[in-house]
Amino acid sequence: MRILTGIQPSGKLHWGNYFGAMKSMFDLQEKGENFMFIANFHAMTTVRDGKALRDATKEVALDYLACGLDPNKTVMYRQSDVPEVQELAWYLSCLTPMGLLERCHSYKDKMAHGFEATHGLFAYPVLMAADILIMNADLVPVGKDQKQHLEVTRDLCQKFNNAYGEIFKMPDAYIPETVATIPGTDGQKMSKSYHNTIELFDVSAKKKVMGIQTDSTPMEEPKEPEGNSVYELYKLFATKEETEAMAAAFRAGGYGYGTAKKELLNAYHRLFDPFKARRDELVKDPDALEDILQEGAKKARAAAAPTMEKVRKAVGL
Ligand code: ADP
Ligand code: TRP
Repeated sequence: MRILTGIQPSGKLHWGNYFGAMKSMFDLQEKGENFMFIANFHAMTTVRDGKALRDATKEVALDYLACGLDPNKTVMYRQSDVPEVQELAWYLSCLTPMGLLERCHSYKDKMAHGFEATHGLFAYPVLMAADILIMNADLVPVGKDQKQHLEVTRDLCQKFNNAYGEIFKMPDAYIPETVATIPGTDGQKMSKSYHNTIELFDVSAKKKVMGIQTDSTPMEEPKEPEGNSVYELYKLFATKEETEAMAAAFRAGGYGYGTAKKELLNAYHRLFDPFKARRDELVKDPDALEDILQEGAKKARAAAAPTMEKVRKAVGL
């Protein structure tokens, strides 16, 4: 089974990214042939600063390696190091109905948030389909927000195969229902667009955790933990026993949010301090990082080559 996922280097990764996307990828690492790429072409739809894009691309690679990506088990590459995806995106574009893209929520959402209506943003799902189909992926782990893009991919797979013969494998989305929406410091979904994130290696983690919005129930009163951001975040880091102990303390009363926040911060450090130590080592050797990315690109291009050969022949080139 081939498993593929991509992540945009459009900002620093945060707790929502870790628990919503990275962790399930690491868990799948043992289960198949894994590919993970940094979608720098996709990030260009919103990032217009070359240096920022280049730096963010490396940061994402470092974060993944620090938190558990094993380059011996997962092929990690930069999207731009496999330029054939652009070529395939064009072939797919030529059979993509405009209406299919016009219906995409993420495009409409970006428009509603005041982004400029560019062709890149509009055609984004076609490039994503190319990423997936070129690698003949069976399974694509993504967040709920990407479900529709996977449907577009499946649609384009079918259209291409109908027109040119059975070339692409039909991919399935892998959206673990158990992965909740991780709340941010203001209680809404944690997202860089909402400025409510706590980054993976946030120097102001303490300040942000202590600043998580809570209600004003007095300390001594019992509180319902479910739905409370501090508790919901603690659940992600803590063991089952620790989680139950916090829930019981909240329900019993006499347990305040300040104490709970300190526990959350400790649990965060327990998990992330070893990752931070690994990251500090990785940062010292930029050549080694580049080698991993180059090696990944070589493997990814080799995996894409037989499909692209069939595709070019089928479309008449
Ligand atoms: P952001 O919302 O900060 O821009 P992205 O859309 O780049 O984050 O998300 C990248 C991946 O991380 C996606 O698979 C997405 O589903 C997951 N993810 C991001 N934020 C959260 C969250 N708050 N809860 C769960 N998963 C999340
Ligand atoms: N659109 C995805 C996101 O924003 C990133 C992405 C691009 C992707 N190409 C992909 C994810 C291919 C999975 C497979 O999260």
